[in-house]
Amino acid sequence: MKGAIVYYSKTGSTEMIAKRFAEKTGFTSFKLEDRSSKTQPPMFATIFGFGAPLKEPLPDLKSCDTVVLMTPIWAWHPSAQMNTLLKKADLKDKKLFLVGVGAGDSNEKAMNRFSRSVEKKGGKIIGSVTYKGLQLKQGLKEVEQRLLESGEDLAEKISKLSR
Ligand SMILES: Cc1cc2nc3c(=O)[nH]c(=O)nc-3n(C[C@H](O)[C@H](O)[C@H](O)COP(=O)(O)O)c2cc1C
Repeated sequence: MKGAIVYYSKTGSTEMIAKRFAEKTGFTSFKLEDRSSKTQPPMFATIFGFGAPLKEPLPDLKSCDTVVLMTPIWAWHPSAQMNTLLKKADLKDKKLFLVGVGAGDSNEKAMNRFSRSVEKKGGKIIGSVTYKGLQLKQGLKEVEQRLLESGEDLAEKISKLSR
């Protein structure tokens, strides 16, 4: 299978999981990049399901059959940056594995919202999982080991699906 991981990360924890995953699987890795340099997450757009401006070009996923989509969770929603990808990318008939990264243990509401948006685009969801990212006042270094293990766990999950 030809695979890619597309992720957004504001404070680096999602990125650390994504990078480890890509190292382990050889999936091509694409980071969604903000067009603006605002430091605060775009919460209004996130909560209302709108997008946030991203640098172009967006990832070219034409040749990938399996795509992992990974986003931080903000206020029980996937990020506005991920919404932009979902609005613009052609995901029809692709196998999609959804990953949410949040401070909480369970993010069912956010993951249901994420799944519904992906299904609207005609993508076929093959699985989903959530991992713990940064909590308030935590530094990346403190949780590095756990994030790397999450990347490895994700790689294991995806490779099991293709066996
Ligand atoms: C404004 C804001 C809202 C958040 N809301 C949630 C939430 O609803 N559920 C959750 O589990 N984590 C929430 N978090 C925590 C982030 O999802 C978590 O820190 C995430 O790992 C950040 O990813 P990143 O380091 O890749 O940017 C929130 C963080 C911020 C800044």
